[in-house]
Amino acid sequence: MEQRYANESRCYKTSRVFPTDVNNHDTLFGGKLMAYIDDIASIAATKHCRQMVVTASTDSVDFLLPVRPTDSVCLESFVTWTGRSSMEVFVKVITEDLRTGVRHIAATAFLTFVALDENGKTVPVPQVVPQTEEEKRLHETAVHRAEMRRMRREESRKFADYLTMRFPWE
Ligand SMILES: CC(C)(COP(=O)(O)OP(=O)(O)OC[C@H]1O[C@@H](n2cnc3c(N)ncnc32)[C@H](O)[C@@H]1OP(=O)(O)O)[C@@H](O)C(=O)NCCC(=O)NCCS
Repeated sequence: MEQRYANESRCYKTSRVFPTDVNNHDTLFGGKLMAYIDDIASIAATKHCRQMVVTASTDSVDFLLPVRPTDSVCLESFVTWTGRSSMEVFVKVITEDLRTGVRHIAATAFLTFVALDENGKTVPVPQVVPQTEEEKRLHETAVHRAEMRRMRREESRKFADYLTMRFPWE
């Protein structure tokens, strides 16, 4: 089985917070940050497997602190765990007050991507090898998260069966 270090998928993206990026509290709009998160996580997943990938799920995105226009926002992302065709990707959002240099973890997220071939069929991905303490901790705890996701997916399918697809005007 092919293996890749977690570090081989690691990527970073740093942005300013522009006036068009904020909500009516003058802090970074959550949807903007979620788009950044999905974007960078998909790059980490693709770097890991060098195949096309799709987002299978996003676990809860935890917004721990608001991001202000005086902050830079830096996202770090890497693959923490792999199944057969699926990859768990961790994203850490670090803000830095550009006037003082003070940093905070503003958000964290786990996403799952699935590798697909040119016919849209799932394909096996290399196993991930953690090296740092942080990577090892995230790798060890991933099996539990994967099991939670599997259960949630079953629940989501059952839930979808209850929902109507009829529009009000029909
Ligand atoms: C994700 C997707 C490819 C899975 O296809 P599927 O036919 O259900 O495939 P399987 O049931 O064989 O699952 C394949 C892998 O995906 C994982 N998976 C599927 N749905 C998942 C979910 N909601 N969360 C986490 N993992 C999931 C499975 O655990 C399995 O992992 P493994 O190969 O490591 O064991 C399919 O559901 C899909 O195309 N969804 C839409 C994706 C999309 O459009 N994303 C947004 C735009 S990129």
